[in-house]
Amino acid sequence: MVKICGIGAGYVGGPTMAVIALKCPSIEVAVVDISHSRISAWNSDKLPIYEPGLEEVVKQCRGKNLLFSTDVEKHISEADIIFVSVNTPTKSGGLGAGKAADLTYWESAARMVADVSKSNKIVVEKSTVPVRTAEAIEKILTHNSSKGVKFQILSNPEFLSEGTAIQDLIKPDRVLIGGRDGPEGQEAILKLKGIYDHWVPEDRIITTNLWSAELSKLADNAFLAQRISSINAMSALCEVTGAEVSQVSHALSKNTKIGPKFLNASVGFGGSCFQKDILNLVYICESNGLIEVANYWKQVIKVNDYQKSRFVNRVVSSMFNTVSGKKIAVLGFAFKKDTSDTRKTPAIDVCKGLLGDNACLSIYDPKVSEEQILKDLSLSSAATTTVKQVNIVRDAYEATKDAHGICILTEWDEFKTLDYQKVFDNMQKPAFVFDGRNILNVDKLREIGFIVYSIGRPL
Ligand code: NAD
Ligand code: UGA
Repeated sequence: MVKICGIGAGYVGGPTMAVIALKCPSIEVAVVDISHSRISAWNSDKLPIYEPGLEEVVKQCRGKNLLFSTDVEKHISEADIIFVSVNTPTKSGGLGAGKAADLTYWESAARMVADVSKSNKIVVEKSTVPVRTAEAIEKILTHNSSKGVKFQILSNPEFLSEGTAIQDLIKPDRVLIGGRDGPEGQEAILKLKGIYDHWVPEDRIITTNLWSAELSKLADNAFLAQRISSINAMSALCEVTGAEVSQVSHALSKNTKIGPKFLNASVGFGGSCFQKDILNLVYICESNGLIEVANYWKQVIKVNDYQKSRFVNRVVSSMFNTVSGKKIAVLGFAFKKDTSDTRKTPAIDVCKGLLGDNACLSIYDPKVSEEQILKDLSLSSAATTTVKQVNIVRDAYEATKDAHGICILTEWDEFKTLDYQKVFDNMQKPAFVFDGRNILNVDKLREIGFIVYSIGRPL
């Protein structure tokens, strides 16, 4: 029986390993993490992350061929294949600070693998890493391992999106596996391919060399983010020319050379990966003397920052150039719908911008906890009770009561179907709506009496 160990029980490691266990009942999958609280949550009824369909998959496999444990050493030493899905954040200090990927967690996982392995292993990079990381990992493994133990490194980047992770894993567009060119590398590729063969059609499994697989992941995220910044840049032009961005993106989407996805203008992209992976790409380009290429990708982030600050400026300038002391309802805090993840959510920058102008915020998100929102805004709960500049509330009607304005920052479905007449009746007048996700019917809201700003549409 093949044994798999997944190191890192986060947004990628948890769902990915659970789906492998679901699709391969003959394989034993152990997911390990250094965080005791995360592992105990995976073993409880309240999983550490919210992801549609995840609970069902975990319940089906946990205790059969899927287990979650903090006994990292034991499960690494027993495994044939080790998937490493640890976090690879942007470095916060030292060489490359603010751009380069911080591989501390990866390196410590690799050292642990080298220390405890008594038999040959395949080590799979699932985390997103700089191109040529496998070379460094190989060095760590070979220089620290017991005599005679051999390792093959594969790059198998993950392309799931949060909110649709289970569907993305069950029906992936493609699975990418990169390995070394020689016979041992090719054999390792076939072994990993053999796992995906349980449920992924053969023509969706792409094999490449290690460096192409590593770089493809960075390129993938850079291309996706670049599309969002491109349509967001267009949205600014729409607002001053009378064009409507939804009409422009619809027209673009019908060009089969462009296609329909990732053309929704928004308050800006968020999430743990787009910014970090582009910064990582920029750093790699700069380190290789490719300054023009680095500057090209940097611009994607600059436009994203511009879009977020443009939104804040629009709110303040529309509300007579000040929001000081005014109650603003913030609907949605997660970086996208169907997740409780707030990493790099545009809501953080928008809320901080509004707080900078002394607004009083009333924030509601169906899945994000009060504790998380306060942490993201660098506020203690004492600050909310004494200063009352930020209140976290339990529903959209409470958030909007007596508010001067509403900012929609996440596209949760429930915000589309609120009773906006009731919302309007309970607000201060004039009542403003700033739709950062373009999910509302502007004409209907204007009929009710709202002053509406949506992205990429003239006021
Ligand atoms: P995460 O922070 O949710 O999870 C990482 C986990 O690894 C944490 O629970 C941490 O405690 C654990 N960990 C760190 N060092 C460890 C060690 N030495 N031993 C055992 N456990 C250790 O991160 P994530 O969002 O799952 O992302 C993981 C990687 O996958 C990143 O490289 C990211 O870029 C990439 N990725 C993320 C997504 C996504 O949607 N979140 C999608 C594709 C790829
Ligand atoms: C993204 C990629 O889509 C995945 O392929 C990749 O695996 C993952 O990053 C990763 O490496 O972490 P994710 O960040 O989970 O997935 O979610 P997306 O659906 O890509 O959304 C990212 C951000 O862009 C969100 O804030 C979303 O609201 C925004 N977005 C997305 C737009 O503003 N407009 C769009 O048209 C699409």
